[in-house]
Amino acid sequence: MPDAPARAQALRAQIDDANYRYHVLDAPEIADVAYDALLRELIELEEAHPELRTADSPTQRVGAVQAGKFAAYEHIRPMLSLANAFDEEELRAFDERVRKLAGERDVAYVVELKIDGLSASLRYDDGRLSAAGTRGNGSVGDDVTANVRTVRSVPLRLRTEGEPPAHIDVRGEVYMRKSDFARLNARRLAEGREPFANPRNTAAGGLRQVDPQATAERSLSFFAYAVGAFEGATPPQSQWELLERLRALGFATNPHAQRCATIDEVIACTARFDRERDALDYDIDGLVVKVDDLALQEQLGAVGKDPRWAIAYKFRAREATTRLLDIRVNVGRTGTLNPYAVLEPVQIGGVTVQMATLHNEEHIERKDIRIGDLVLVVRAGDVIPKVVGPILAGRAADALPYRLPTVCPSCDEPVERLAGEVMARCVNWTCPAQRVERIRHFCTRGAMDIEGIGDTLAAQLVESELVRDVADIYALDRDRLATLPRLGEKTIGNLLAAIAASRARGLARVLYGLGIRFVGATNAAILAGDFGTVDALATASLEDLLRSDGIGEEIAKSVVAFFANRANTEVVARLRTAGVELTAPLRPREPVGPLAGKTIVLTGTLPTLTRDEAAELVTAAGGKVSSAVSKKTAYVVAGEEAGSKLAKAESLGIPVVDEAWLRETVGASER
Ligand code: IVH
Repeated sequence: MPDAPARAQALRAQIDDANYRYHVLDAPEIADVAYDALLRELIELEEAHPELRTADSPTQRVGAVQAGKFAAYEHIRPMLSLANAFDEEELRAFDERVRKLAGERDVAYVVELKIDGLSASLRYDDGRLSAAGTRGNGSVGDDVTANVRTVRSVPLRLRTEGEPPAHIDVRGEVYMRKSDFARLNARRLAEGREPFANPRNTAAGGLRQVDPQATAERSLSFFAYAVGAFEGATPPQSQWELLERLRALGFATNPHAQRCATIDEVIACTARFDRERDALDYDIDGLVVKVDDLALQEQLGAVGKDPRWAIAYKFRAREATTRLLDIRVNVGRTGTLNPYAVLEPVQIGGVTVQMATLHNEEHIERKDIRIGDLVLVVRAGDVIPKVVGPILAGRAADALPYRLPTVCPSCDEPVERLAGEVMARCVNWTCPAQRVERIRHFCTRGAMDIEGIGDTLAAQLVESELVRDVADIYALDRDRLATLPRLGEKTIGNLLAAIAASRARGLARVLYGLGIRFVGATNAAILAGDFGTVDALATASLEDLLRSDGIGEEIAKSVVAFFANRANTEVVARLRTAGVELTAPLRPREPVGPLAGKTIVLTGTLPTLTRDEAAELVTAAGGKVSSAVSKKTAYVVAGEEAGSKLAKAESLGIPVVDEAWLRETVGASER
């Protein structure tokens, strides 16, 4: 190589730039394959010329395994913590204190998201990352330099036009994106390893790994929001300007920071972000409100560890601990035993919670949740509250491990839990609880839509033995219904009309309503459209079923098993006699080919194919080309200079492939 040093330098600049665009600006400009090629070239070059290897080279993000404990990291200026405000009133009190000390003038604030990660201080000497430490007690933390270097949004070298500052401590939050967390857990599950509990703990644990490779695998991120010591450059005047400077130096700063002229504007932000927080790709637990003017910050100073110029506004907690009073069991439509917790009532985010799901027997066993334990309960948004696990410190000495009942709580028949399944089931087809659930499901909106038959009436119908299975619904009449308590003339009339109207819903809705295992609304529609009549479906072989697009082994087996059962075919026969429509319009068969049913997005410039040629290959192979990346996208074919679509694909975890892959998959040879 004639000019290896120059090439190494150029490669480093290109790789740093790509990293910066990807991890900081969130606007990548080159494809992964191109990035990998650059990195590989640099690695090879540095192997051939070890003297060219520098500490800030992008090849040096993952260092050697740490020997022994972390060294102490001393903060030149202490890392402060924050006092909390929990409501509007406390924010106004904070503002009043600030304005009083400022001489009763108007004070502007910067509102930032309070990222739920852990804070770190990064030291740059002459523009290079020289050390990094955790907060620790505010004066001394752990030296986690090797681990922080693996964080891609941390620049190893500052981006400066002229001279870098002689020394700067950049502070911010190390955190994990929800999408990275989901990807990591999916990988762990695939490897048969225990998934991590939440992004925050995974980030905190990640920073404390002795092997930087293990930290790198967690794909941590960093948002900068403050500086400690700052030497050799004119310091900024305001927090707002500080954030701008940090961005210019190559750091990611959170894009949602707001400058507010008054405390009223700050308060308006709190409601907005509490609403929008679930849509973010990282967890936040509140907002941080900071006096914008840095000179005023200095003047206000701190009381103990808490600065007077900033406050943390905490969102209402979405988790709480409470006592687990009892574990009870519901029987689901398919016989699953669904354990749920009866809790000592507790307020979570403004709602009283006294019941929560325990998922299944496996969850209770794995977390060793016992009756009488103090348990952690979470409620996120509108979802059902769930018991995360026990607080072991508070466990009574005589608490016994929980055992799910061995007989069904509804019918007393023995329950089964098959090897490899997390749910125990009651396999008694005539179990009253399952009957109730099957009838209720049959009547739901997505199935036969019989308004009026919900939880209560379904249970009454089964208990009174007016209805044993879904076909019996069509034998109901005025006289029979009148025997039930609290059913007036008018209600009965409406009910009978709803039952009559449901006869015409068609095969797809009936199939879904029958509650065949693994046959949800989508699969029911596919099967109805492909087979057209219930008889064709009932006599279909496993192979016939597997030919349907989207129907896999598990579903096909379940359908065959359903129609092999006499009790089921009898119900179907009685539905027919009752005049229920059991046919559906056949839909044209889906295209065939290696990409049948797959949606592909093309982005960037491909090495040899034009956009139209690539699209043609996709369609000829049965695929569909779409211009926007969504969860439905099967693959993104990326070329040179792929932009936001590539980033979107990465964030959704959609496989990104190149032209060679496309050619190989569709069987097209190289031109
Ligand atoms: S400013 C004195 N800004 O919250 C200034 N902190 O409760 C202290 N945090 O230890 C930090 N996002 O770990 C600041 N935008 C943000 C923050 C933030 C999260 C964390 C940080 C700190 C804790 C204080």
